[in-house]
Amino acid sequence: MEDKHITPKSGITRRGFIKGAGLTTVGSVALQSGVFAGTEKTEEVKKDLGPDAVNITMNVNGKIRKLNIEPRATLAKALREDLQLTGTKIVCDRGSCSACTVWIDNTPVNACMTFAMDVGDKEVTTIEGLAKNGKLHPIQQAFIDHDASQCGYCTPGMIMSTAHLLSRNPNPTIEEVKHATRGNYCRCGTYPHVFEATLSAAKKMK
Ligand code: FES
Ligand code: FES
Repeated sequence: MEDKHITPKSGITRRGFIKGAGLTTVGSVALQSGVFAGTEKTEEVKKDLGPDAVNITMNVNGKIRKLNIEPRATLAKALREDLQLTGTKIVCDRGSCSACTVWIDNTPVNACMTFAMDVGDKEVTTIEGLAKNGKLHPIQQAFIDHDASQCGYCTPGMIMSTAHLLSRNPNPTIEEVKHATRGNYCRCGTYPHVFEATLSAAKKMK
């Protein structure tokens, strides 16, 4: 889709802004390490596509899925409505709560602020992809054991953020857990339980 929202002085485009905004506070550190590296070339190919739906494929939780989506569709919409992966929640739909956190190539992003077409051949991991061989990821089990979920709207995003932390830091301090979840908002106030669950899962994963 051709981007007509070019700001001449800054050179910032609407599409470029959303690509950056898609990264969670944790994932933003990966912006320069190449989460969306190579997308400029891809945009050259895509600019004549749309507004009608187009066919794409996407690697989601290790499976190649076919989609027919409009170029304006977000990754959150594609996951929930087109692929029926409703574990990813949409709460604010504007990049401020991180309820929609998924991983793209193991980097957390806000799926509501990421265009589905910009995923390209990168791998998307959602909350449905964490359990392996019918067994919950230790952080999922810890959330159950520590009663870290009330209404549940923030829970998949919280789990994706804390699971990402544990994949990189097997022995986090509580301050590091708070830092990893700083973009995840919980209206029910489950934070102390989330922190306990994460520290407990870290011990069990040793
Ligand atoms: S629903 Fe995506 S950040 Fe809130
Ligand atoms: S459990 Fe309700 S918003 Fe977090």
